[in-house]
Amino acid sequence: MISFICNNKEVTESCTGGLPVLDWIRSQTGLKGTKEGCREGDCGACTVIVGRPGDSGIEYSAVCSCLLPMGDIHGCHLVTIEGLTTGNSEDLTPFQQSFYDEAASQCGFCTPGMIMSLTGFLLGSHKLTTSAAIESLDGNICRCTGYISVKRAVENVMCELPEPTENRLEMLIEKGHIPEYFRTISVRLSKLPAHSTSVDGPVIAGGTDVYVHSSDELAGRHPSFLSRRDDLGRIVTDNDLVRIGSAVTFTQLRESSVITDLFPDLKEFLSRVSSTQIRSRATVGGNIVNASPIADMAIVFLALNASVTVSNRIIPLSEFYLGYKKLDMQEGEILTEISFTLPEPGSVLSSLKVGKREYLDIASVNSSMLLRIEDENENESNVILFARVAAGGVSPVPLLLKRTGDFLKGKILSENILQTACSVAVEEISPISDVRGSKEYKRELLMAQIRAHLTRGVMK
Ligand SMILES: Cc1cc2nc3c(=O)[nH]c(=O)nc-3n(C[C@H](O)[C@H](O)[C@H](O)COP(=O)(O)OP(=O)(O)OC[C@H]3O[C@@H](n4cnc5c(N)ncnc54)[C@H](O)[C@@H]3O)c2cc1C
Ligand code: FES
Ligand code: FES
Repeated sequence: MISFICNNKEVTESCTGGLPVLDWIRSQTGLKGTKEGCREGDCGACTVIVGRPGDSGIEYSAVCSCLLPMGDIHGCHLVTIEGLTTGNSEDLTPFQQSFYDEAASQCGFCTPGMIMSLTGFLLGSHKLTTSAAIESLDGNICRCTGYISVKRAVENVMCELPEPTENRLEMLIEKGHIPEYFRTISVRLSKLPAHSTSVDGPVIAGGTDVYVHSSDELAGRHPSFLSRRDDLGRIVTDNDLVRIGSAVTFTQLRESSVITDLFPDLKEFLSRVSSTQIRSRATVGGNIVNASPIADMAIVFLALNASVTVSNRIIPLSEFYLGYKKLDMQEGEILTEISFTLPEPGSVLSSLKVGKREYLDIASVNSSMLLRIEDENENESNVILFARVAAGGVSPVPLLLKRTGDFLKGKILSENILQTACSVAVEEISPISDVRGSKEYKRELLMAQIRAHLTRGVMK
């Protein structure tokens, strides 16, 4: 049985845990505001908000219901567009009213998803700035209105919204963004019956890879959910080791002070990885196990010389990938942790990706470089003390460019050295031509990224 609160109503369901929440909403509830577009996490039309009890109360986030399994919302608050108001057609939230006033909706298919993303943003913990609100729509595609009137509608609401000093939930209720019943949810969730279900399916972390290609098959199964394992959801520093649980999401990584204090530029890179809805679910472990040659997290952790823990074996990530989608891991094993040693003081991590679109696109080529350059003030020669480079989209696996890093070590940065480093890197890779670009283009992209990493490193 799966128990949760849908909008203002307690629900207990006996469906399979693998059924996508989108299918349950549209077939079982009569609530049709949640739209089905791509079923691949790309369009955002199916966006709902999920509130999960956490260390600091209920943590709400906007997610794609097409990639969200029912078993993963047990004990949670599921909010659809209908749950934001009382049901009276005159009763609109400020965002809904502003979309109406600014004619920010034409056919209306994408509008519920946009309102849910914006409300999910308000319910989260971000600073309430207009630019951050607009950024929260990075996973919502509109194909007929265009985005200018949408932006205007968002700006109108955000400039009226105070930064809450204490209770954000109360402020949002007072301003009409959410109904009063939200006050009761915390207590009501704690009274839900415990979960009882058998497991006859695969391991699911965030589901953002498996549901894209196996949604129909998973709908009839009872998968095992890693999000239920608290031990896999933490980021800690243990002496000089940073340890990241495999079920840590991209959003948690982006908001972790442990990570952003060490690597301030990673936050910006992560904002170009998937979308707000996908980052709330996608996990670091899932990214590494999925073994895509362009996995964004894999290249970052390769540059950090990270290791992965699988059944108590600690394996260097650079040795974990044995070939295209082949891992040093047996079926049924769980990757529990990613860990790396704190880099030397003065090290800079630079990560870049180039795709066909700025938002919501996987890379044609991505790369990450950990770099330490001699302090310019002591010696103006820019000696590279250390460099480790990794790249994706240029071989069957996310690749550590060992020879390029070794070549750079001890060199004084100059145009000549930059050119030679690019030539060494190109010799290490074997890109293929595909929909993301020709092999020649991918070589050019990698060389441009290596230049950018090194020149950025000097400017730090
Ligand atoms: C719209 C969209 C945009 C995307 N954009 C990007 C992008 O920009 N960059 C990028 O790198 N990726 C992107 N992805 C891919 C995906 O979000 C990531 O690869 C994500 O990290 C997968 O993690 P997950 O937790 O969702 O994996 P899941 O789908 O839950 O699992 C993937 C596979 O790994 C297995 N698995 C998961 N965790 C473990 C574990 N701890 N131990 C053992 N097996 C495990 C599962 O059984 C499954 O086979 C995108 C996906 C979508 C849908
Ligand atoms: S239906 Fe397109 S993101 Fe879910
Ligand atoms: S209003 Fe038609 S797709 Fe956005």
